[in-house]
Amino acid sequence: MVLVTGGTGLVGSHLLLKLTINNTKVRALYRTEDKLVQVKKIFSYYSDNSATLFNQIDWVQGDILDIPSLKNAIEGITYVYHCAAYISFNPSEFKKLERINREGTANIVNVCIVNGVNKLCHVSTIGTIGRSLNEEKVNEETEWTRQNANPYAITKQLAEMEVWRGAQEELKVVIVNPGVILGPGFWNSGSGSFFKTAAKGYQYYPPGGSGFITVNDVTKIMIALMNSDIYNERFILVAENLTYQQILKEIALSMNKKPPTKSLKFWQLNIGKIADRLRNLITGSPRTITKNTIYGLKHPTTFSNEKIKNALDMTFERLEDQIKFSSKLFISERF
Ligand SMILES: NC(=O)c1ccc[n+]([C@@H]2O[C@H](COP(=O)([O-])OP(=O)(O)OC[C@H]3O[C@@H](n4cnc5c(N)ncnc54)[C@H](OP(=O)(O)O)[C@@H]3O)[C@@H](O)[C@H]2O)c1
Repeated sequence: MVLVTGGTGLVGSHLLLKLTINNTKVRALYRTEDKLVQVKKIFSYYSDNSATLFNQIDWVQGDILDIPSLKNAIEGITYVYHCAAYISFNPSEFKKLERINREGTANIVNVCIVNGVNKLCHVSTIGTIGRSLNEEKVNEETEWTRQNANPYAITKQLAEMEVWRGAQEELKVVIVNPGVILGPGFWNSGSGSFFKTAAKGYQYYPPGGSGFITVNDVTKIMIALMNSDIYNERFILVAENLTYQQILKEIALSMNKKPPTKSLKFWQLNIGKIADRLRNLITGSPRTITKNTIYGLKHPTTFSNEKIKNALDMTFERLEDQIKFSSKLFISERF
């Protein structure tokens, strides 16, 4: 039986869908009942049989910071997909990020070791891959440094260290490092914000860019890696490197909206950073524009996907198709 953490999130819910379609016996961790509704919604996007698939899952209430709940969840499990994490770029949330991402992952690694789990698949991020100082693409070996890294990336790197510790204690592990994951349903977080932004028809786009991949490819690759003989390796998961202008244009056009045409200037971003900080101090709203996010926009990195392509002999789904699919769902739910 396999265990999925973060099953109520974008990656976890799509992974659960694939596993249930494959008739894999699966248990999933959830924190609160209300989040299960979201999973049902995701399943309904893809299957007429969604209720039956959903009911195949053995849902166990638990938290990756609550070790007794994990001991309960790990009973009889041979494979673990660890998708749970906290995503925020707000420096004042560093403690929360560190607890959920590093300590939570340490707990997962520990219960895997104690219970003799066969293999752990850990979901990390391209934020833990080193940056390039020139135009060259970075790969899994490029050295990562903490300098200019955002708090989310720092805590995800600490989480990876916990996974490598597990590997030293003879737990078989694979780590995937996805770029921005495109997929439907989670409109208020992650790539969902690209759909919200494009739908507003703003004229401006941020400078820079990132690596992108669809949620279908991420989950397909995770399952393939778990079913393979590969272990103690990490893989960048990026289908394409695109500028933010390119991705916002593609999404805007798929919604019949005007694509953005003007680049935000760095002086505008610096003013935005001050306004963002003031709003944070006055209202407590999360910070979104920080010195590290501006650094990232100034120094975009492009990522090589050669390692995963060679390991699994695969081709990636076209981002364009996923964008059209997600945009259609966004419009039907939001307008
Ligand atoms: N989305 C992206 O573009 C992206 C890109 C690269 C890497 N990643 C990585 O991919 C993984 C999945 O991301 P996602 O986009 O699916 O995130 P998401 O939609 O925000 O889902 C996060 C999941 O983690 C769970 N979680 C958070 N804290 C937990 C805790 N203390 N105990 C148990 N579960 C907890 C959440 O549960 P609740 O529903 O109860 O909150 C939710 O199921 C993460 O490791 C993330 O770092 C994401």
